[in-house]
Amino acid sequence: MRTKMVAGNWKMNKNLQEGVALATELKQAVKDPKCAVVIGTPFIHLATVAELLKGSPVKVAAENCADHEKGAYTGEVSAEMVKSTGAEYVILGHSERRQYYAETNEMLAEKVRLALQNGLKVIFCIGEVKEEREAGRQNEVVKAQLEGSVFGLSAEEWKQITLAYEPVWAIGTGLTATPAQAQEMHAYLRELVAKNYNPQIADDTTILYGGSCNEKNAAELFANPDVDGGLIGGASLVAEKFLAIIAAR
Ligand code: 13P
Repeated sequence: MRTKMVAGNWKMNKNLQEGVALATELKQAVKDPKCAVVIGTPFIHLATVAELLKGSPVKVAAENCADHEKGAYTGEVSAEMVKSTGAEYVILGHSERRQYYAETNEMLAEKVRLALQNGLKVIFCIGEVKEEREAGRQNEVVKAQLEGSVFGLSAEEWKQITLAYEPVWAIGTGLTATPAQAQEMHAYLRELVAKNYNPQIADDTTILYGGSCNEKNAAELFANPDVDGGLIGGASLVAEKFLAIIAAR
């Protein structure tokens, strides 16, 4: 059976003290979850939060890492540095990184390679923008994103990948994909994984939904057979809401 997961993505929110307070609340409340629980935090929180969550089922993710191994890249944080904080995951390919920081499929392929090489698990995000959905092009868009960055991985490497389908038009907009839209896309993604690897590997792949997923709509989204959990932005910033989403999984 594939892993069910609820992951948070704090994005550029919470200073260190606020982040520690939220992680402390989660640590106290999440004792024996029915699914994997991950929180993606800004780089500056990672070491402190990973230490605080030692022994807790709540795992820590970075929200990005560099596309170079090391060296003269002022302001960048390498996959090895992320790993050294105690974080176990890194979120890569988020649409905000693609859109605002011009991350390309090629750069992301390199980031994924470096993350895996350094023993990090990857939550890899894909998804179409509104115009692409309106033109009915969502399938070709996500296919190209997968082919461009991760479908070259070996079957062994693929085990470290969790996919997150995040339709860009649903992120932070309050416009959630309908459960049917999510299911349709997740089933398609699983079919692509089956073709690129094999049906067993596809069946074992965790595919999360992200985009205005909250404590009110999570259960309905998670009820779909191919929706294995969620990647949560805004609602992961409030312990009560994030905990309710975990309980819905
Ligand atoms: P929201 O839940 O705020 O829409 O963000 C989703 C997201 O981008 C998670 O990575």
